[in-house]
Amino acid sequence: MRKSIGILTAGGDSPGLNAAIRAIGKSAIKSHGWSVIGFRDGFRGLMQDRSVRLDGNALSGILSHGGTILGTGRDKVDAMDIGGNTMDMRAAMLETFHAHDLAAIVCLGGGGTQKNALKLHEAGMPVITLPKTIDNDVYGTDRSFGFDTALDIATEAIDRLHSTAHSHHRIIVVEIMGHNAGWLTLGSGLGGGADVILIPEIAYSMDAVATAITQRKGDGSPFSIVAVAEGAVNTELATQLRELKAQRESVKGPERAQLKSMGRALFAGRTSTFDIAKELEERTRLESRVTILGHVQRGGTPSPSDRILATTLGAAATESIANEQFGVMIASKGDGYRALRLSKVAGRRKMVPIDHPWVRTARSLGICMGDSP
Ligand code: F6P
Repeated sequence: MRKSIGILTAGGDSPGLNAAIRAIGKSAIKSHGWSVIGFRDGFRGLMQDRSVRLDGNALSGILSHGGTILGTGRDKVDAMDIGGNTMDMRAAMLETFHAHDLAAIVCLGGGGTQKNALKLHEAGMPVITLPKTIDNDVYGTDRSFGFDTALDIATEAIDRLHSTAHSHHRIIVVEIMGHNAGWLTLGSGLGGGADVILIPEIAYSMDAVATAITQRKGDGSPFSIVAVAEGAVNTELATQLRELKAQRESVKGPERAQLKSMGRALFAGRTSTFDIAKELEERTRLESRVTILGHVQRGGTPSPSDRILATTLGAAATESIANEQFGVMIASKGDGYRALRLSKVAGRRKMVPIDHPWVRTARSLGICMGDSP
């Protein structure tokens, strides 16, 4: 009987998802003679058996399209909201999987998807994943597709903000996506020539930032671009969060869950980008403005580099299925790829190392990383 495989996309959308779907589908059909179906809206579509046949026609013309033709969702497989109740829906997903007599399912997603896929694999489903996210924070892969495109968009935005900041002698604080990791802010800040770069991995002090901007003003540059990641926190909050984390790790059960939700609430109350801009205006006496790039960073046409990455990893996923190698993520490694066990990837995050070459480069150019007065 002809082998069939399934594909789903989960988590926030990312440029390159359609290129990956196309590559998985085309290589499955052309190199192996398999049939391919896609499930709509992530794991929920798998649970509800909402599927679409991905034949040559469905896969044609999607390489350069942003978003995902399958739709996506942020559901957890073992804690899904079903009419207001949180339920483990893995059994229903396995039922769909068997009803279609699938040989494997390829899940395209970020950190959350790796965790969900591992849970399905442990429940007996042959699963393979690909890493996608504009945040570039999936553990174990050199790159995640979507990052390069978002980097282009954020860098171009900083370029454009430069000329207006310069003309009006203003500070422009630009907020860039990345709740947990600062790759996108650091990369675009460096690529766009930001004067201050604030990332979640390096806690900032307002004194350090204001001093750097005042110094620039004194040196004859009465304007500054401050690139701030969504998840950047000041030194006081960083200390509180670290202490809470240490406490959390020493306890179990409900107490642990309570400390976790306290941490989430503290983080949610961090100084907003608007408050950063207001405080900088007061301290430096330079007018300030805020630009939130938001979902513009995730939309639209994938860059050539993301298309190539997504296509390479997509084709490698079908090779992995042909070799019956399941429970793995196909990670990018240089120009190629490698299969990593999901158990090594799930639940971990690739943060910016504080001595990363990009950080050292920024510092050597005199860019303020928020931590040095
Ligand atoms: O996909 C990751 C990410 O883009 C983060 O950088 C951002 O904080 C988050 O998604 C936004 O998610 P949503 O689109 O669900 O609001």
